[in-house]
Amino acid sequence: ENGGVNDPKNLRVKVNIMDSGVGKSCIVLRFVRGQFDPTSKVTVGASFLSQTIALQDSTTVKFEIWDTAGQERYAALAPLYYRGAAVAVVVYDITSPESFSKAQYWVKELQKHGSPDIVMALVGNKADLQEKREVPVQDGIDYAERNGMFFIETSAKTADNINQLFEHSALSPS
Ligand code: GTP
Ligand code: MG
Repeated sequence: ENGGVNDPKNLRVKVNIMDSGVGKSCIVLRFVRGQFDPTSKVTVGASFLSQTIALQDSTTVKFEIWDTAGQERYAALAPLYYRGAAVAVVVYDITSPESFSKAQYWVKELQKHGSPDIVMALVGNKADLQEKREVPVQDGIDYAERNGMFFIETSAKTADNINQLFEHSALSPS
């Protein structure tokens, strides 16, 4: 199955969002419904949401988004969701070096087992928490560059760079 680009005016992009507590569900909720839930619950298994946006040239892009559970006990399920995905979004929390290490683990998994033409995005979320930052921006930039990924810092709380993340995912060549 081809999760990638077909009709150039109506793109369909399957997006898989990975890794717990880094804010994946909040990113998806912000993108799809324009909301932020400070009491967001742990995702069980995975949840599916879709959102269609129009790009500047009036191309429409339908994102089919699998928001996967980040908790360790669900790790074995991950390949079910990233297989067939055109885009894999690997999220960490800029206040958590552990989450940055775990993101790197997922990047390696995707390189080993994902589709060879999958577009990978590295996302440093919770960028509103600057005073608690423990992962320097440059570390994210460098890691993404070494691994052929695009990099962005987001805040699901303030909505900063959330649309840009998805728009850029749709436009990245795969
Ligand atoms: P799992 O489903 O367990 O994998 O977690 P998740 O990655 O989906 O995390 P979730 O989106 O549920 O967010 C976890 C916590 O982080 C919640 O308390 C959110 O309110 C908070 N959070 C998410 N995004 C942001 C953000 O951009 N800024 C801040 N300050 N908090 C955030
Ligand atoms: Mg979740």
